[in-house]
Amino acid sequence: MLWEVRQVKRVFYKENAVYQIYPRSFCDSNGDGIGDIVGIISKLDYLKNLGIGIIWLSPIYVSPNDDMGYDVADYQDINPEYGNLQDMDNLIAEAKKRGIRIIMDLVINHTSSEHQWFKSSKDVNSKYHNYYIWKKGKCNNKKPPNNWQSMFSGPAWKFDSEVNEWYLHLYGEKQPDLNWHNSEVKEEVKKILRFWLDRGIYGFRCDVINQIYKTTLKDGKPRVMQTGKEHYLNQPGNHEILKELNSEVFSKYDCMTVGETYAVTYEAAKKFTDNELTMVFQFDHVNVDKGFVPLINKKYRPSKLKKIFIGWQKNIEWNANYLENHDQLRSIERFGDAGEYYLESAKMLALLIGTLKGTTYIYEGQEIGMLNHKVTSVDQIKDVSVLMVNNILTKLHIPPKTKMRMLNNFNRDNARTPMQWNDSENAGFSSGVPWLSVNPNYVKINAKAEVGVENSIFSFYKLLLATKKENLTLCYGNIDFYKTHGDLFMFNRLDENNEFLVCLNLGKKNQRLPFQLHGKLILSNYETKDYKNRDYLSPFEAVILKTK
Ligand code: GLC
Ligand code: CA
Repeated sequence: MLWEVRQVKRVFYKENAVYQIYPRSFCDSNGDGIGDIVGIISKLDYLKNLGIGIIWLSPIYVSPNDDMGYDVADYQDINPEYGNLQDMDNLIAEAKKRGIRIIMDLVINHTSSEHQWFKSSKDVNSKYHNYYIWKKGKCNNKKPPNNWQSMFSGPAWKFDSEVNEWYLHLYGEKQPDLNWHNSEVKEEVKKILRFWLDRGIYGFRCDVINQIYKTTLKDGKPRVMQTGKEHYLNQPGNHEILKELNSEVFSKYDCMTVGETYAVTYEAAKKFTDNELTMVFQFDHVNVDKGFVPLINKKYRPSKLKKIFIGWQKNIEWNANYLENHDQLRSIERFGDAGEYYLESAKMLALLIGTLKGTTYIYEGQEIGMLNHKVTSVDQIKDVSVLMVNNILTKLHIPPKTKMRMLNNFNRDNARTPMQWNDSENAGFSSGVPWLSVNPNYVKINAKAEVGVENSIFSFYKLLLATKKENLTLCYGNIDFYKTHGDLFMFNRLDENNEFLVCLNLGKKNQRLPFQLHGKLILSNYETKDYKNRDYLSPFEAVILKTK
């Protein structure tokens, strides 16, 4: 309704899309095969041209890269591979010149085992011992303190013979969990937040933020995966911590925060966005094609995806709308069709996440339709979580071919291959040897082939983002869904003055519409210009019409 649009002040993150950069794979300026900050600066004009307003940088802090930066060894300095603090200041300033703001990844569930805090924590008499979760084990210290499992598979505890105790790691062995019962940890983190906000960043994407508080360390109910999660997921203590970080830090700045909240319910998400974080990433829709364990895919049903989106849209005021990130496989092959309908489905998916209510997130390469890169042998894999699972599958004597298929199903390297800038060697990403092989399809799929080219995926994203800025109802307006069958997805974005009808065919078969279309064509992924009286949508067809 109009009063909402009038009274809600203009908010940057509501009108601007976020573009996630995976720094290691974005652009390498000095030929060492690793993307870097100077490389990012050289591509700011590209991003400005695309029309995004916010960059989310995956971690660029000092890190031994056991989990590619999600293992931080120093929160207040830059990994020399990526540059230095001066480069970062330049990036912030150059982005600002172009109207672009930057959010950083904040990884505070755990640090790297190479963080000075952890090294010092090995002295049981040091105050740092209590920064982490050190415990004596069961059975005379021979067995882990409880039965919890690491999110990356295997036990969540590692014995340290120097200390003669075990430490908790919900992720890799080199990612020890911080002890959020210790208020000193909280104070350290507040300092880190201010350090970056004072340097001019616009906020944080908060890594696995709904797991930081372990209410107890009791045994968990045995499960195939994530045993122990009832003791650390979405806990009341977690909310208290975020309320405090918000009231003492975030609320003092013009900033946004987005929480990565795996296994979050509507109820928990509501709490996380009530004076805690600005918005959260839920995972239901990206688990729609995952089986009981992520190694095994399930048949993808568009109608399920639709249902999940509707649920979140109805329950949560402001969503973080995404299909891809550095942990997910590329979306066209999951929810679209990389063959016959490659262009149509890529654009339909763009229109989908661009028109749902909330902030639109685009992951590097998504805007040019990058695809997965399947590998044929384990030594091509860099993703620590896949390597850990590989060890288990090997022990189980799973035949190599089946094993590779399973690993490819969730190998996060699929989406981490270097950004494909052009058709020259290494896709224009680097003049050296890229840290992770480039997808050989770069000769066809690359930014140079798409920028300024009518009908390209890039041009469609650009048009879509511009359309939203010109029609703020698509940003601030309410959303109302039609009851539609099967693969057809339809909703209105509306306020008192304007109304837009969004119709999407999520699938490969023609879909009959419940009524004949009318209104002014705003954007569509087919060449059709005349939607008057149309009563069906072609495969993956998507359209925005202005109906009021
Ligand atoms: C998040 C990150 C992922 C990382 C994990 C542990 O899920 O997105 O890349 O491995 O947290 O930090
Ligand atoms: Ca480099």
